Amino acid sequence: MGILKDCINNNNIDSIPIWFMRQAGRYLPEFREIRSKNPNFVELCLNPKISKEITLQPLKRFLFDAAIIFSDILLIPYALGQDLKFEKNFGPKLGNLNLENILNISDKEILEKLKPVYKLIDITSKDKILKNKDLIGFIGAPWTLLVYMVNQKSPKKTLNTDIYKNVNNKYLLEKIIYTQKLHIKNQVESGATIIQIFDSWAGLLEYKYYDKYIYNPTQELVNYVKSLNVEVICFPRGINCYKEYCDIVKPNVISIDYEVDPALIAKEINIPIQGGLDPKFLLLDKKEMLIKAKKYLETFKNHQYIFNLGHGVLPETNPENVKILVEFVKDFK
Ligand code: CP3
Repeated sequence: MGILKDCINNNNIDSIPIWFMRQAGRYLPEFREIRSKNPNFVELCLNPKISKEITLQPLKRFLFDAAIIFSDILLIPYALGQDLKFEKNFGPKLGNLNLENILNISDKEILEKLKPVYKLIDITSKDKILKNKDLIGFIGAPWTLLVYMVNQKSPKKTLNTDIYKNVNNKYLLEKIIYTQKLHIKNQVESGATIIQIFDSWAGLLEYKYYDKYIYNPTQELVNYVKSLNVEVICFPRGINCYKEYCDIVKPNVISIDYEVDPALIAKEINIPIQGGLDPKFLLLDKKEMLIKAKKYLETFKNHQYIFNLGHGVLPETNPENVKILVEFVKDFK
């Protein structure tokens, strides 16, 4: 058990736990080297030996308290039979959505496709570098997966605005939730000690649809993770009602994005909080970066707080700044 779990469970800890979303990724030259030899991103995610190496790369350089598995939320559409590829300078491209095929696909077929992810978790969790550290597994929240599956690409490109008027959403959502439970269970059984739920596109949804697409489905998955005796972190990026979200969904930890005012959150929310710092601040010079980081450390001084960013590490980040920031947080008293 690592200090993330200690923090979440209010046990004594002697420093602030820290890890970063996308801590394994393109800002690291050793990742780029592996990536250049493995142009197919999906195959890379499904190669346990190499994805283990990538998962552990940031822990070899920095004093992070947790690893997050090198995988992707879009392996779920892939496992449901929707084509998936990642194109350079474009991002994910999903194939046509064949609802009938998706609804008929069996657990066995799904698990067969995801088996390499569980193998990755199994071999990574046994590595001595993770002794006393957490291994974070993850899923995409149902809403965010629905967006990718129906839109077939990142909504950053263009968004099909009829997405939530699609009459088949109900069945698709049910299948997504069912499959996510399978995926959570297998990640936990393979050695994931915490699960994070990424709702990267929560901020796109009109508020009147929150119950249907965000609150109810996410709460169901949160309850499911808790039933396995594992802590769950939720990251509903871009919403402006974090308190209501926590009251309804009840995650163990809420991960905040960089648009949220930390002082307001510290006042409003009494569950453990994670993250917040704008990843762009890691592009500043060292002194300015640390001033920004200190604001979060000071604001959450009397709170259960896991240091993280308000979204993933940017590819243009200098690893030296990551090192300086992590050491600063670990030394903060
Ligand atoms: O955080 C980590 O270090 C763990 C690994 C991880 C990846 N994807 C690897 C990855 C995690 C947790 C994810 C989750 C994920 N994937 C999300 C939720 C978090 C978020 O960023 O909002 C989403 C929306 C996706 C879908 C996805 N995967 C997109 C839109 C892209 C392309 C965007 C980009 O950054 O190029 C990916 C590709 C991806 N997933 C990369 C990595 C390291 C970049 C791959 C590369 O080109 O080298």
